Amino acid sequence: MKLNIALLAGDGIGPEVIDQAVKVCDVVATKFNHEITWKPALTGAAAIDAVGEPYPDETHEICKNSDAVLFGAIGHPRFDNDPSAKVRPEQGLLKMRKALGLFANVRPTFTFPSLLEKSPLKRERIEGTDLVFLRELTGGIYFGEKGRRDGGETAFDNCVYTREEVQRLAKKGFELAMTRSKKLCCVDKANVLETSRLWRETVQAMEKDYPEVEVSYEFVDAVAMRLVQWPNSYDVLITENLFGDILTDEASVISGSMGLMPSASLGSDIGLFEPIHGSYPQATGKNIANPMATVLSAAMMFENFGLQEEGKAIREAVNKALNEGVVTEDLAEGGKAYGTSEVGDWLAANV
Ligand code: IPM
Ligand code: MN
Repeated sequence: MKLNIALLAGDGIGPEVIDQAVKVCDVVATKFNHEITWKPALTGAAAIDAVGEPYPDETHEICKNSDAVLFGAIGHPRFDNDPSAKVRPEQGLLKMRKALGLFANVRPTFTFPSLLEKSPLKRERIEGTDLVFLRELTGGIYFGEKGRRDGGETAFDNCVYTREEVQRLAKKGFELAMTRSKKLCCVDKANVLETSRLWRETVQAMEKDYPEVEVSYEFVDAVAMRLVQWPNSYDVLITENLFGDILTDEASVISGSMGLMPSASLGSDIGLFEPIHGSYPQATGKNIANPMATVLSAAMMFENFGLQEEGKAIREAVNKALNEGVVTEDLAEGGKAYGTSEVGDWLAANV
C-alpha cells in the first residue's frame, strides 16, 4: 500500500516521540511491503513562532491531501498563565479537528500484564481492564459561543449539541460495541443539563436498531468514581467533549503511565492518530519521554487502514519491550531507564 502521512510533531516532547514512531513505521513498511511518504508540517507553538498561527493553511492543505495524520503533542507553558494571549497552541488542535471533521475520538484504556503493579490502583481492581471511550470531539462547550460581558466581569461558554451530532457519535459507539462485548455506557449529566437530556433521548431512540447491545446510562460524576473503583466493569463508553476530555485523563492512570495510551480521531477519510499525553515541557529535549503512546497510535493508524497484522506487530514489540524492561524513566522504578530514542531503536529492531 502507498501511504501519504502528514507528520505533525508539534511542541515539547512531540518531535522526540514522533521520531520514534517514524522509525518503527518505516521498519513495518519495509517488512510488509508498504511505501510511506512522510509529509512534515507545522502546528502548535512551533507554528505560532514560525508563521503566527497554530494550524496554518499550508498545514491544513498537507493534512487534507494525506491518508492520515500522525500527531505528537501541542502546548507550551508560556501561554498557560497568560489569559490575555490571543493565539494559543491548543487552538491549532481544535481547528484541525473541526476542519478535518474528526468528530469521534477513540481512546482505549487497557492494562499490560507486566505493568499491573505500576498502576496506583490495586491489581485486583484493574486486572482485565479493556475499555474504550468514544469522546465527541467537535461540539459541546469547546465549540459553543464564548465570551465576556459586563465589561469583562462575566464570562460564558455555551454548551450546544444537535441531535445529528449525538447520533453520528452514538452510531460509532453502537458499532464498536457490536465488535466487542456488546455493552455500551452513555455517560451524561441528564439530571441537570439539557444537552445531556438530548444525548440520552437520542441514544435511547437508537437502542432498537441494536437489540443485542446492552445500554446503560450513568451520570458523569458516578462514572468518575466507578472508573477507578471497578474499571473492568466498563467496555465501550460514549460521551460528550468535555466529559470525555476529563474522564480519559483519569482513565489513563489505570494502565500505569500516561505515556502508554494512544488515540485515534475519526470521522472523515483522514484519521488523526496521537498519544493522549501532552507536550510535557519539562522533559523537552532530554530524551526521557516515553514514546510508546505515539508508537501505539501508529499501530492504531495501520489498523484503521485495515492493516491488522502491521498493528499487531507493533503491539507485540511494545509488549515485549515492557516485559523485558526496555522502558523510559516513567516506568523504570529504580531499574535501568532507557532514553526515548533507545526505546525507539529497540522497538524498530524488534518489530
Ligand atoms: C486532549 C487535550 C486537548 C483537549 C487540548 C490540548 C485542547 O487535552 O486532546 O485531550 O482538551 O481536547
Ligand atoms: Mn485532554
